[in-house]
Amino acid sequence: MRLDKLIASNGGFSRRQAAEAIRRGRIAVNGEPIRKPDAAVDPDADRITVDGEPFVYALYVYYMLNKPAGYVSSTEDGDTVIALLGEDGKRPGLFPCGRLDIDTEGLLLITDDGPLAHLLLSPRRHVEKEYFFTCSPAITDEGIKMIESGVDLGDFTAKPARIAPSDDRLSGTVAVTEGKFHQVKRMLSRAGSEVTYLKRVRFGTLDLDPALAPGEYRPLTDDEISALRRAAEKEGIKQ
Ligand code: URA
Repeated sequence: MRLDKLIASNGGFSRRQAAEAIRRGRIAVNGEPIRKPDAAVDPDADRITVDGEPFVYALYVYYMLNKPAGYVSSTEDGDTVIALLGEDGKRPGLFPCGRLDIDTEGLLLITDDGPLAHLLLSPRRHVEKEYFFTCSPAITDEGIKMIESGVDLGDFTAKPARIAPSDDRLSGTVAVTEGKFHQVKRMLSRAGSEVTYLKRVRFGTLDLDPALAPGEYRPLTDDEISALRRAAEKEGIKQ
């Protein structure tokens, strides 16, 4: 593996910052400063230090992306959410934890931690996802009650969801614990109002970072990762 890629792998340095740190001689491999960003290293066998401190190779990476409209939640070629990570963030095995529709914006967790993603996405874990929506026409009292009591969507009945409409009923937030295809749009439509804009603002314990412009991402902090893991494990298996 390339040294700059390794140094950038745990989120502490971008790829560019890693290359710069290497050129400045801040990185030593088996005690020897190495100034070539493309030097080949083996994270399992080589002893690597940054400014004399042992470098901890991250087993997994976790990014919070503010997904813009126009990108698909897949790993294939093209305008995918993975392409938004650019050369700095890319690492083999990264995938979006769940899907947002092409026109939906907001918080998408991108990771290569399959076991955690499995927990977070399991419908039996009831991890809450919260969305901001705008809709037309205004959602009615009856529509709100339908969403709060569980909407029959034909192929399945959505679980009761928490909805907080704005005063004019043309926008609001809705929190669901499932992740079926077009779920929020279908719930609102069934309740008599079409979604005109949708943005995920929370995923379990993770709130969308307001500092992230659409298309921007950042690594999760250790505290955010632990909280997410604790929440997914604590939700336990319910029916
Ligand atoms: N519900 C939807 O309808 N679309 C999304 O992208 C996410 C939830």
